[in-house]
Amino acid sequence: MPVIPPRAVHDFPFASIVPMPTIDEYLQHHAARFEDELCQFLRIPSVSADPACRDAMTRAAEWVEDQLQLLGLATEVIPTAGHPLVYAESPAVPGAPTALVYGHYDVQPPDPVEKWLSPPFEPTERDGHLYARGATDDKGQMLTHIKSVEAWRRVNGELPLQLKFLIEGEEEVGSRGLHQYLVDHADRLACDCVVISDSAQFGPDRPAITYGLRGIAYYEVRLNGPARDLHSGSFGGAVTNPANTLAQLLAALVDDQGKVQVPGFYDDVVPLLDAEREQFAALQFDEAAYFAQLGVDGAVGEAGYTLLERRWARPTFDVCGLTSGYQGEGAKTVIPANATAKISFRLVPRQDPAKIGAALEKRLIELCPPGIRIEVVDMHGSPGVLVPLDSPWMAAAARAIEHAFGCPPVYTREGGSIPIVTAFHETLGADTLLLGWGQEDDNTHSPNEKFSLRDFHRGIQASAKLWEELAAVGRQ
Ligand code: BES
Ligand code: MN
Ligand code: MN
Repeated sequence: MPVIPPRAVHDFPFASIVPMPTIDEYLQHHAARFEDELCQFLRIPSVSADPACRDAMTRAAEWVEDQLQLLGLATEVIPTAGHPLVYAESPAVPGAPTALVYGHYDVQPPDPVEKWLSPPFEPTERDGHLYARGATDDKGQMLTHIKSVEAWRRVNGELPLQLKFLIEGEEEVGSRGLHQYLVDHADRLACDCVVISDSAQFGPDRPAITYGLRGIAYYEVRLNGPARDLHSGSFGGAVTNPANTLAQLLAALVDDQGKVQVPGFYDDVVPLLDAEREQFAALQFDEAAYFAQLGVDGAVGEAGYTLLERRWARPTFDVCGLTSGYQGEGAKTVIPANATAKISFRLVPRQDPAKIGAALEKRLIELCPPGIRIEVVDMHGSPGVLVPLDSPWMAAAARAIEHAFGCPPVYTREGGSIPIVTAFHETLGADTLLLGWGQEDDNTHSPNEKFSLRDFHRGIQASAKLWEELAAVGRQ
């Protein structure tokens, strides 16, 4: 029988005289409790961006540590300059590899709260989905790897490989504390591969392994004009209006073909190969259904590329927020003293966020008219990644997914970013398996975020199989 500390004994249904259940049987038997535990986790409002949530951040970290401790892992909550990290590890297994599981317990702010059908931190089940902030990004997905370890420990005793868990609370705000920890403690985190479930399947019943993520370069552009807000009649035409200027500057950053107009922006872009374009096309992405789901009648983007190519393998420019002038009810005739924009560039591999930041600032200063002072604040940046498709770890993950989902995964890239993936590669020399259990329409970062309970359970099942498959690779 497994050696598990007394606290870890869950109500185990099988008396010792009956045969031990298989992992899949164990998962089935405990499915309802796993859902309850996910709900507990989702009730903690761990919004990393919100200073009012500091206590909740600590509680969420402790909740994760408790879960890992109950499985008999050696655990630690590690303070950082920001929110704490949770670290846990099981013993090394001679001849078997080590996998590092990464996830995040922080979530995005729930606003606009009035758009939620049920409150964001009161998980509610509807149509086989659990609705709550963090359901898919990333509490639900991350928990699959903890529950799969529980099943292994309860059914088989020892794990077949060494697992290290590194769960952070600052993913949604740039992972600052984790970056520092990684540099300082690379030895402790040494591993053969990294496992992350924080992305999506290609569609319902179309599980995917993601082999590419875009990078990001995020800035705040601040324009300062006259010393105070002015009467737009008395002063209109006499002074440069910061709001007008902001609109002009932003519009100048992209042309009518969807090409970003920052000098040198495309210099390092790895061009899409014909073979990859064919693979994307073979996925038969349903654009009409995608638009319908988003409530739009079409879209424009960079000319010469399909929608999937633009999302996954081409860089973009987006305005994420705009603030200037009168925002209240009715009309107010005013020339605002300031205008600010939050902007992001999604990057593809080889583009360097620092180089882009410098070129952006130079270009905006060139374009800036008299009467306006401009400030460009670098918020955060990280390059894109591509993971080799031909590793034995990839093949092992594909077999685990097929076991749980009943069909092999397709191989996708994603438009989103998980900045720490690049750092894992550079610092630990380990590639990441991006095994997303979510769906494209899970409303991540939006109101009514959800996660399919069926996918939650299949994710746990795939994860449990993954440990076996990865262990087998190490023994080859
Ligand atoms: N889980 C997402 C990243 C993601 C989104 C991966 C979609 C694959 C598909 C993650 O939590 C996230 O939101 N990342 C941020 C990073 C940023 C704050 C540096 C993002 O992509 O905006
Ligand atoms: Mn995430
Ligand atoms: Mn996110």
